[in-house]
Order: sequence, then C-alpha cells, then structure tokens
Amino acid sequence: MDNLLTAAYSPERFRQQAHTLVDLLADQLNQDERSNEPVLPYAEPDELLAYWQADFQKPIDGDPLPVLTDIVKRSIHLHNPRYMGHQVAPPLPLAALTGVLTGLLNNGMAVYEMGMTANALERIVTQWMAEKMQLGPQAGGLLTSGGTLANLTALLTARAVAVSNNVWEEGYAERSRLAIMVSEEAHYCVDRAARIMGLGSDGIIKIPTNERFQLRTDLLETYLEQARANGLTVFAVVGCACSTSTGSYDDLMAIADFCEKHTLWFHADGAHGGAAVMSETYRPLIRGIERADSVVVDFHKMMMIPALVTAVLYRRELDSYRTFQQKAQYLWSDATAKDWFNSGKRVFECTKLMMSAKVYTVLRTYGEAIFTANVETLYRLASRFADQVRSRPEFELAVEPESNIVCFRYVGNGHTADQLDTLNTQIRAKLLKEGRFYIVQTTLRGRVYLRVSLMNPLTTDTHLEELLDVISQQHYHYAE
Ligand SMILES: Cc1ncc(COP(=O)(O)O)c(C=O)c1O
Repeated sequence: MDNLLTAAYSPERFRQQAHTLVDLLADQLNQDERSNEPVLPYAEPDELLAYWQADFQKPIDGDPLPVLTDIVKRSIHLHNPRYMGHQVAPPLPLAALTGVLTGLLNNGMAVYEMGMTANALERIVTQWMAEKMQLGPQAGGLLTSGGTLANLTALLTARAVAVSNNVWEEGYAERSRLAIMVSEEAHYCVDRAARIMGLGSDGIIKIPTNERFQLRTDLLETYLEQARANGLTVFAVVGCACSTSTGSYDDLMAIADFCEKHTLWFHADGAHGGAAVMSETYRPLIRGIERADSVVVDFHKMMMIPALVTAVLYRRELDSYRTFQQKAQYLWSDATAKDWFNSGKRVFECTKLMMSAKVYTVLRTYGEAIFTANVETLYRLASRFADQVRSRPEFELAVEPESNIVCFRYVGNGHTADQLDTLNTQIRAKLLKEGRFYIVQTTLRGRVYLRVSLMNPLTTDTHLEELLDVISQQHYHYAE
C-alpha cells in the first residue's frame, strides 16, 4: 500500500491522535466549566473566512493537533454555562465519545448487514420512546437526521395514509388540493415540509395563537370549514410540543379530539419539548400526545446527544412502511416486506449515521434518570429565571415559560415601542460581539424580544443574574 495510506490508517497513530484529541477536549470542557473564557470568540464571517483561507495555504506537516486546537478555539462552546442560545444540547461527553466509535465503524444502516447492531439498537430505542409516549401496542418508529427531516417524513406518511389518491405513483394532481393545519408559531420546517410536498402557500393553513402562543383550538372548526369551502382537502393537523420561539405547548388533547372527529392525521412536533415525557412533573404538558398518529422527538435538543438524532414515532408502526415505496434491487429483494431491520426502507437517508448507538450507550450507562434530571433541571431553571426577570422593573417577560425557553426584553424607562425594538436588537448584537453570553432574539407579535434556551444543566441562577446585570448596567451605552 502507498506509504501515506499505511501511515494514515495505522492503529498506533490512531491511538496517539485519539489521546491527543481527548486531552484537548477534556481541557476545553474544564475551561468551559470553570473559567471566564468567552462562550464564543465572535468574528465577522468574511474575517473568519479569510483566516481559514490563509490557514488552508499552510504546508502539510502530518500533525492534526494545531488544526484541531484552532477549530475548537474558533467555535462556539455549548458546554460553557453562559451558552443559552439556540436549542442544541451541550452533548454528554460519553455520547460524543460514542460518536467517535460510530464514526470509525461507519456502518451504513440502510440494509441490515450494513448496520446489524445499529439497526437492532434503533429498534430498541424507538420502541422504548414509543412506550414512554404511551402510543400503544402497535407503536414503533425510526431514527433520522434531525427534526426537519423527521417532520417531513411524518407528513409524507400522513399523506400516503390519509389521502385516497396515490401521490407516490400518480404525482400531485391539481384536482386534489391538499392542506395541513398548524399553529402560526410552528417551526419553519413544517412550512418547508408542506411546500416540498407541493402544497403551496394555500396548503399550509396557519392557525392563530392565544396570549400564551398556543394554537387556538377553538378556531380549528372554522378554519377547516373555510378550507373546505375553498376546495382544499385538509389531511393533517400539527400540534407543537412545544413551539420554538416561546416554548409553548399546544393543547394536544383538544387537537386529538378534533382530528378524531374529522378523521385527520394528528402529528405532534415534540422535537424540543417531547422530552417532557421523561419527567412526571412535566409530563402533563404533553397530555394527549399518546393519541397522536405520529410524534417527533429530537435527542440532540433536550436529551444531550450530539446532532443529529431524531425519533419519528408512529401509533401504528405499519404506517411507516407506506411513506416511501421504493424499489431498490441492489439493497433489498422484497420492497414490500415490512422488515424493521432494513433501515433504508422507511427513512430518507440511504447511508445513515449509527445514531442509535449514542442514545443506547447513554441509556445503558446512566439509565433514564439522566434524561429526567436534565429536563427537570432546565425547566426549573427557566421558571426561576422568569422570577428574576419579573423582579426587575427594567425588564419585561414576554410570557410565563412552560419549558426551558424564556423570552424577555429590556424596557428601561420611557421608551417608545420602536425604540425598544432597536434597543433590544442592539443589546443582543453587543452581547454577541462581547462573547461572554450567547443569547438570541425573536419577534413576537411584531416586537423584538431577547430569547434564552437554557440548554446547559451547568448554568446556574448566578449566571442568569449576571446576564440581567450586564444588560441593565450597559443599556445606556446603546445608541437609541
Ligand atoms: C419545534 C421544532 N421542530 C423542529 C425543529 C427542527 O429540528 P432540527 O434542527 O433537528 O432539524 C426545531 C428546531 O429548533 C424545533 O424547535
């Protein structure tokens, strides 16, 4: 073999590189936990691109350490307790290590023999989650790469099952204008899925929300009648569990009643908040999810697994075989057989990460208790943060948090509504550049709010007090 290849595949070299990398990452975790280092070393996109373009010109020297160190240094650090931005978990180190294992084994998953154990573990993990959701004896599901793909997969199943003409074979016929109903607060990927499916703007019916940003279930009947009067065939309703901007849970029981009455597919997007199922305290938030036809849960949000790992669960697992009806002779001889072990039949991916191994290893090592602890720690922290915000007159809470997502804004004294939008946009921009905290912003009812998703269980009340202090002490520096 070529010397370069022999050396690059050398087990001894791998051992050395792995030790070096683990030391680097453990040092970073230590620093994240203890030090006052920034959560992100913000650089403007073109500046950072120029830096890496210059790096790319450097001579090859066979030592990955400088590059690996630099990648770590110039990235956002989710394990820093002042990370409270988007809904991505600081992964459990064990789950990340399992990612090294799955990266090296690289089993492809689509057919059984290309992912024997990973397919078996996927079955166990999805059955376990379906049971937690109390979806019933016929339930089961699959894992796929992220909530976006998962929601699209579930809606494709919904269309295949709930619509009489066979879109897979016949294509999309103009005579059957299809539609789904969903909260105006749903994640944009639901809208995207509907458009990918050819439903167009008319085919995604956005239902207004109440003062807590929950879908107004009292409007469902009227909107359905209106859709029918407009010649649309509604085939599914999507419930948020919870929504993205404010972390609000829809009334899933009411949506289930409505879907049952009209024989519509009920899909619950629990990408973020489906994990409430792990806690007896927070489980009531998802009451009614057990009646859903399909449910999505992201393990890389509230369950501390590195991206991407998402479960799509079905109340009747057999439905999942109707999503794609692909004939692929080079993979499986019988395209119609309902074999759970050939992962590729029911998911978008052909080659797929061995994602089940990460969830399974965590479950077998720490038990369910670790998921319960994470959900409860973060949801309680958010509730206490809301108390902190409320106790300071210079801040305003957008809505009482139901999950670990909190929206609030600086209001100060005597500003107009437009000035407050500018001020809060500037606050967030300044925080981003300073890099000490990472928070995001959102627009609610046309007004700008600061938004935190408390994803890191090592974040404390003290970090959150400091965030409010920093904002209120510095507000007068912002140009108004
Ligand atoms: C409610 C909800 N659904 C779906 C998604 C998309 O998930 P992913 O980022 O895994 O594609 C998100 C992401 O934030 C979300 O909050």
